Amino acid sequence: MILVTGSTGHFGKATIDFLVKKGYPVSQLNALVRDEAKAEDLKSQGVQIRVGDYSNPALLNTAFTGVDKLLLVSSSDLNNRTQHHINAIKAAKQAGVKHIVYTSFQRKNEVNSPIQMIAQAHLDAEKEILASGMTYTILQNGLYADGLPMFMGENVLETGIFLPAGTTKAALTVRADMAEAAANVLLEDGHENAIYLTATTEKNSYADVANILSEITGKSVTYTDAPLEAYKEVLKNAGVPEFFAGFLASFSEAIKQGEFDFSNGDLEKLLHHKPTTLKDFLKTVYKPS
Ligand SMILES: NC(=O)c1ccc[n+]([C@@H]2O[C@H](COP(=O)([O-])OP(=O)(O)OC[C@H]3O[C@@H](n4cnc5c(N)ncnc54)[C@H](OP(=O)(O)O)[C@@H]3O)[C@@H](O)[C@H]2O)c1
Repeated sequence: MILVTGSTGHFGKATIDFLVKKGYPVSQLNALVRDEAKAEDLKSQGVQIRVGDYSNPALLNTAFTGVDKLLLVSSSDLNNRTQHHINAIKAAKQAGVKHIVYTSFQRKNEVNSPIQMIAQAHLDAEKEILASGMTYTILQNGLYADGLPMFMGENVLETGIFLPAGTTKAALTVRADMAEAAANVLLEDGHENAIYLTATTEKNSYADVANILSEITGKSVTYTDAPLEAYKEVLKNAGVPEFFAGFLASFSEAIKQGEFDFSNGDLEKLLHHKPTTLKDFLKTVYKPS
């Protein structure tokens, strides 16, 4: 029996869709949701719904009972993530989960990273999983290519890209590919006690992204390697709260420092096909003018 958490979110839902498409019986497939009202489409697929919240260990314990393989999708609550993950891992152990699969994060540096606020909860979760004694698979997911439109801004085709990311390349990875890899790990044997770098081997800088956007749309999209303070000023003038501006800037800073400028063939091996190219992904978002 499989359970997928975060299943009302993009990653969990995509993983469930792949599991169903690949023939895993829905009678054995459980989705953890914290709000059942958001689970209508999962119910209509015949998926079993279990209600739980990462902040409620007792509820998690009940929800995880009878589960053999658990996909723990990392929490999206930046302020409480470490506790959420620890609650979920402890509940899984207590409920007798046999194999835990966790969506972690690619990184080069484990200390003083510009995105330490994101990375730390993953480092803590990985440590907790290794100490739990459960069989594990850790998926060190690449930076979502899907996040590019948010970082570049909604008028990117008119304004060009203005980000403090230097010209360093990054393994910008399509979320659906990582979800398919997670589904395969849940379905297949041979991934026990493994740590995979689930990031594409294709690497692009924002200058490359600008070129790809120009090719796709026929417009001339430029990239400006913005000074950090000038970038933050632009966000401030656009009414972006200071905390969120710092959050956005930290990802560019991490790219510039090469946090995502490496990969191996793990993702392709797990997928059994080539990952989606950045151009093909961007074509789904940006059309020719
Ligand atoms: N690698 C990257 O570049 C990258 C980028 C963004 C996010 N991430 C990480 O990857 C995860 C999955 O990404 P995503 O795109 O699927 O995010 P998402 O669409 O925001 O989904 C997050 C899921 O987590 C659930 N959740 C949040 N707080 C919870 C709680 N207290 N208890 C139980 N469930 C809770 C949400 O439930 P509700 O629907 O009820 O809110 C939702 O189902 C994120 O949560 C984040 O940790 C990675």
